[in-house]
Amino acid sequence: MHESNDNYQIWQKAQAPQSPHEFLVGRTLAQELCEKNYRDIAMSYIFITPEDVELTFRLVPGAWEAIKGVGVDLGGGIACVSSMLAKKDEVKKIYCVEYTEELVKLCQPVLKKEILGDQADKVVSVVGDFDNLELADGSLDFAIAWDSVHHSHQPIKTLKECRRVLKSGGHLVFIDRAHNNDTPQTEIERMLNIVYDKEYLRKNYLDENMTLTRRDNGEHEWRFHEWNEFFSEAGFSVKELVVLKTDTPENRILKNDADLVEIFMPFNLGGFGHRKVGFVLQTK
Ligand SMILES: C[S@@+](CC[C@H](N)C(=O)[O-])C[C@H]1O[C@@H](n2cnc3c(N)ncnc32)[C@H](O)[C@@H]1O
Repeated sequence: MHESNDNYQIWQKAQAPQSPHEFLVGRTLAQELCEKNYRDIAMSYIFITPEDVELTFRLVPGAWEAIKGVGVDLGGGIACVSSMLAKKDEVKKIYCVEYTEELVKLCQPVLKKEILGDQADKVVSVVGDFDNLELADGSLDFAIAWDSVHHSHQPIKTLKECRRVLKSGGHLVFIDRAHNNDTPQTEIERMLNIVYDKEYLRKNYLDENMTLTRRDNGEHEWRFHEWNEFFSEAGFSVKELVVLKTDTPENRILKNDADLVEIFMPFNLGGFGHRKVGFVLQTK
């Protein structure tokens, strides 16, 4: 039996944060952003407008059509993605599961109300852990994960938990970062050891004299083939797989080394490298 109050449910978390700073950015940002307009909250937290979130789902082949019935949003953050998708008539309900209570309590209500109005209840806010979904086996039609599963410390465990709650033939639409297959381990380590600079700390309302590495912030860096292996191990088959890129001269030159079709987005995709991978997966 899970706890709830008027605004959100509370599900048991599978594990405690691995570093004291793991969820610091979200906790601090939530307090600062919640007074702002919903579009500014989205730009500050996920670096993309709500409309461009929708456009991304429309541009990844098979993604928009996969979103229907009852679903779950893994690492739902400010509930921008959930709310934009819940506008679809075919969507009955989305459980938006986010670890950081401040984001759920302070920011999710703003996005839900501004985007969905009197249909805000279609998005069920949950403070919880994507490694423990308090939902029955085979109960959901779809799942979404926008830039969140790279925060998992055990991606196969996270994806198996997602697989468990999906119906046979259910879909997972997955948008996240991925590195080229030839990225050496030394480069992965270098990225994780990067210490955020003062400007980043100031922008995120943190003490500019603190030392925060990307690893401490809960980041992980996976290559294309590693994501493929995680999905296969967790019981998913790949229906569609594309690389999404902001249309910059650099991105036009740098091709992925996994032989994947690249889609150049007519807007700024934001985030690390302005490049993401888009998977549409189905339970095996
Ligand atoms: C880069 S943000 C993605 C934003 C989010 N999808 C959105 O649309 O606002 C990653 C999110 O995953 C959340 N997260 C990380 N680990 C989690 C976990 N174990 N369970 C649930 N959420 C988690 C973080 O708190 C953060 O809000």
